Amino acid sequence: MRLRNIPGADEVVSSSLYCIQDAASHRGSWNTFLGNDHPIHLEIGMGKGRFLMDLAAANPDINYIGVERYTSVLLRAVQKMDELCLPNVHFLCEDAKNLPEIFGENEIARIYLNFSDPWPKDRHAKRRLTSHEFLDRYDQFLAPGGRLEFKSDNQELFTFSLEEIEASDRWKLDAFTRDLHHDPVLNEGNIMTEYEEKFSSMGNPICKLIASR
Ligand SMILES: C[S@@+](CC[C@H](N)C(=O)[O-])C[C@H]1O[C@@H](n2cnc3c(N)ncnc32)[C@H](O)[C@@H]1O
Repeated sequence: MRLRNIPGADEVVSSSLYCIQDAASHRGSWNTFLGNDHPIHLEIGMGKGRFLMDLAAANPDINYIGVERYTSVLLRAVQKMDELCLPNVHFLCEDAKNLPEIFGENEIARIYLNFSDPWPKDRHAKRRLTSHEFLDRYDQFLAPGGRLEFKSDNQELFTFSLEEIEASDRWKLDAFTRDLHHDPVLNEGNIMTEYEEKFSSMGNPICKLIASR
């Protein structure tokens, strides 16, 4: 995603009711903070957040938290939420590597990763959100029976992600496809992200995997 510094974005994000400040103080008590016992689903690297908001509108009994590290991107999600005012959506302006300091053991029921940055250089592999370093982080807060869903049009990143899961003694692969939009089972109920619409309209097949422990 091309990043521009947008004047005022920091202020909007830090004063928005939808953006959780001081997130680490809720570690271990997220459901109390959210005021219900509904499951909590995360989208990590949510960008402008349309996928998360579409999911939240369709599933009012699930709490959705979108994680995005740049205020200039998160700003767009906040502006959209000012129109939609969905009670089950919150945002965190955080780097995903900090999430184990924010969520306690078993607090999260599902993790979505959509069109994560590929970090193509080998020396940057540990920055990929499906690297074993990140899988170890998710393992610290994903509930038993919880799952990870990952979509990408990047074949190299997708192959890397399959290999990281297969090499793990904690994670297992439940399903995958390299052509989601022509897979009648995995595509059922699929909600497209902004990047998914862009890349599929260019003719790129969309890959998806589901993993659990
Ligand atoms: C390519 S965009 C995809 C956006 C959206 N998920 C979609 O599919 O339309 C990747 C997003 O992930 C965010 N991101 C990348 N690494 C991150 C990290 N370590 N922590 C939080 N956000 C991250 C980027 O800032 C960017 O907004």
